[in-house]
Amino acid sequence: MRENWVSRAGFILAAAGSAIGLGNIWRFPYVVGTNGGAAFVVIYLIIILVIGFPLMVSEISLGKMTQKNPVGAFKALAPDTPWWLVGAMGVLSGFVILSFYSVVAGWGLAYVLKTLQGVFTVSNTEEIFVGHITQGLQPVLWHFIFMVLTTIIITLGVVKGIGRSVKYLMPALFVLLLMLVVRALTLEGALEGVRFYLQPDFSEITFGSLLSATGQAFFSLSLGAGAMLTYGSYLKKGDDVVSSAVWVIFLDVGIALLAGLAIFPAVFALGFDPSVGAGLAFVTLPAVFAAMPLGNLFAFTFFLLLSIAALTSAISMLEIVVSWMVDEKGITRFKATIGIAILIFILGIPASLSIGAVDISIFGISFFDFLDLFQERFLLPIGALLTSIFVGYVLKGSKLRLEVNQDSKKLKLGAWFDVLIKYVVPTAIGGILIAGWISLFSS
Ligand code: PHE
Repeated sequence: MRENWVSRAGFILAAAGSAIGLGNIWRFPYVVGTNGGAAFVVIYLIIILVIGFPLMVSEISLGKMTQKNPVGAFKALAPDTPWWLVGAMGVLSGFVILSFYSVVAGWGLAYVLKTLQGVFTVSNTEEIFVGHITQGLQPVLWHFIFMVLTTIIITLGVVKGIGRSVKYLMPALFVLLLMLVVRALTLEGALEGVRFYLQPDFSEITFGSLLSATGQAFFSLSLGAGAMLTYGSYLKKGDDVVSSAVWVIFLDVGIALLAGLAIFPAVFALGFDPSVGAGLAFVTLPAVFAAMPLGNLFAFTFFLLLSIAALTSAISMLEIVVSWMVDEKGITRFKATIGIAILIFILGIPASLSIGAVDISIFGISFFDFLDLFQERFLLPIGALLTSIFVGYVLKGSKLRLEVNQDSKKLKLGAWFDVLIKYVVPTAIGGILIAGWISLFSS
């Protein structure tokens, strides 16, 4: 018997848990920081509405309609065609993304411990960060610990594992984040950071910003990888997809915006640079915290928050692959979870080492950066593009929309949905993808 979420709120929490992760707490603030601030946030919100929303509804309802994993779902809706390959790409995405995601999440766990030990000062955070990630064994060990936590939850299943853990972890995450926002906003000089974050200057926007905003949207909403499809497959007939999708998007965007509001005011108030890139959370923030009263406590809070957010996302990536193995290959959940987790752990080892301990590179970039670029420029956008084409053209007309509307109580999808999923979404993703490849291969 296939498991079902205990309630609609259970599904929303789990799906929001998948969406809210390193993408919100670590990546969103630094991408905003390197792309000039508020104007980028506006572009990001538009992309979420126009591309993110129709895809979110589509993925969830493909899962709900078929009650199957990504491969099984496409097979059920388009038998004897190669469309199942889109699902297979999703399974590959879950596998690939988790391998390096777990490495970064492991840094977060290590930092929880480091903040407890109180090792950070205003001037040593870069040295500590570089020292940690290039150390070799240490980060691999933390990657292992994070994979073990993820594995335990997934072996327990959808209700006892995923459902029960998000019920406690998501509210905890929210409270921790609010603490940080209040702290940041009450610092002297915080307003300058708020302005940077919320007052748009559109001259800062380049084509590169558009590309980053799209990549960020897919990654943050867990779209294009079959995660939402997989979670949707545990919904019951009659469950409302549209309002759930709205909730998940609202929570994901809300938490990303709050994360920025916890970070930029503090960064500006204490005179740091918002545009340092990937080191913002791990280098700049610990220094910012070290410079404020009770900083250690807030630093601890931040890294605990980051680790929790990462965990509730990581479980969804592992669940994509496990649900495929269980449904399609008839392997027990326990065996499938352990086997896949070991393989993902192994793939993460060279990713972690390639950052500095050992020289492992592909096409001139480290193996870690290669995996990240591969998901950002290929796996997620192509997965999303093909999903929109499938829903718009293969499912014939407005089949998905009519199906969704039957169970949606308040918000109904109008014909505008067909226009979005048939024309706007594929053209936008296609255009951005191709332009992105041109810039990638010409650089
Ligand atoms: N949405 C997650 C985050 O923001 C990452 C993710 C991507 C999860 C793809 C599942 C699938 O961190």
